[in-house]
Amino acid sequence: MKIIGNLLAWLEERTGLKQPIIHAITHPVPPGSKWYYVLGTAIMTSFIVQIITGIALSTLYVPSAGEAYESVQYISTQAPFGALIRAMHYFGASAMILFTGLHMIRVYLMGSFKFPRELNWLTGVALLFITVAMGFTGQILRWDQNSVWTVAVGSQQALRVPFIGKLLVEVLVSGGEVGSATLSHFFSYHVFVFPALLIGAIVLHVWLVLHNGISEPPVVGEPVDPKTYRQKYNDMLKREGRPFWPDAAWRDIVFSTLVVIAIFALALWLGPPAIEKPPDPSIVNAQPKPDWYLLWYFALLALLPHEIEDWVIVLAPLFVVLIFLSVPILAPFGERSPRRRPWAIASVAFIVSFVLALTIEGFREPWTPNFEAKPLTPEIIGATSGPIYQGAKVFDTKGCLYCHTISGHGGKRGPDLTEVGSRLTNDQLTIRIVNGGYNMPAYAGNISAQELKDLTAFLDSRKNH
Ligand code: HEC
Repeated sequence: MKIIGNLLAWLEERTGLKQPIIHAITHPVPPGSKWYYVLGTAIMTSFIVQIITGIALSTLYVPSAGEAYESVQYISTQAPFGALIRAMHYFGASAMILFTGLHMIRVYLMGSFKFPRELNWLTGVALLFITVAMGFTGQILRWDQNSVWTVAVGSQQALRVPFIGKLLVEVLVSGGEVGSATLSHFFSYHVFVFPALLIGAIVLHVWLVLHNGISEPPVVGEPVDPKTYRQKYNDMLKREGRPFWPDAAWRDIVFSTLVVIAIFALALWLGPPAIEKPPDPSIVNAQPKPDWYLLWYFALLALLPHEIEDWVIVLAPLFVVLIFLSVPILAPFGERSPRRRPWAIASVAFIVSFVLALTIEGFREPWTPNFEAKPLTPEIIGATSGPIYQGAKVFDTKGCLYCHTISGHGGKRGPDLTEVGSRLTNDQLTIRIVNGGYNMPAYAGNISAQELKDLTAFLDSRKNH
């Protein structure tokens, strides 16, 4: 005991850290700090889980295009605790994203971003984007078919950015080809660049939280006035403030412990995310599917009419950044209570349902071919022999049915062809099948003249009656 006491005294004499630390953990917080204040610590806790599991993973992961896939396989199937640690890293990432979203909603609805905490909000927005960037680069490191295609799609998108598109692709994937250099780029982004930015932004964010104080729960009819706010806040803290430790911190500790238990339990129970087949450059039509928290964005891109896709790819992220950045600039003062800010509630409700609906679409994937589509029945075809019947068979065997629906049977990747005969002439049908289209393969070298004739006869017969 005495030795430890002496050691601590020595340390304090040399560093002088005791007072600042005590000061930080006992800083006064407003009374009534309730459970919705624990989200920030939950993000920190999940981040610590990420650092620990991430370092563990990095000891076995090989960041080279030839070996990455195998090393992930090895981690997931053979390395002791490998599957558990990989799964914890995945659920830790999910927790970080989820809590960051909830934390932002909480801060926004309670008007905590207003004077004097505008910079708290702006550093928080930076943290959100860095966290998402961590998630995205992390998925790429699996280096399976899905992640390689995600990069390909991502770099195609980056190419469409005006002026700096080329440069962006160069920096992101290092040139036109997705290969070894790409993977080492993503590896250093994921383990050096973004973590450094993240830690820097966290330090700044926490400093600002301590400097400006935790916002008091909003009161209806008490708007923020920059002339008087600081004075009022400080008086209130002197009157009724409580030390963060232990009066408020116990909630943070309880919640953070639950978060770690949940990450551990989910990892044990569900295991790491499945790795797909090794990357195969010959499969050009694969639709990449990112982890759940980015699925909504890919769903949005897949569902958009492709004429406006280019615009959305470039403008939507810019728009989102601008909206987030403008929040404290547009409404720095005034009422904080959500009861006096119906538009704040409405916009959160809108964004949450928008993202939720797209996420659900993303899981349903109506835009991927439906390989389980059942062959068309004679009732649907309306014939049991002859060219129309033969054409319907070609429609099955050539895989048209995977992407197109006829009378409720088939996939939804392409347009419904139930009544295509009313829309297109025989010649137009032929041209379309031979040349393909956007997201439809060209069948020119892949179909005989007779098959083509029967097929168009069949499609021509699909008219509205
Ligand atoms: C991989 C999915 C896929 C497959 C397989 C596929 N198509 Fe398509 N098809 C599409 C898509 C997507 C479109 C819409 C293309 C566009 O808008 O440019 C389309 C468009 C069409 C159209 C035009 C429809 C219209 O209303 O304008 C016809 C006709 C058509 N396909 C017939 C066929 C036939 C016949 C086959 C089989 C030989 C086939 N498709 C195979 C995806 C597919």
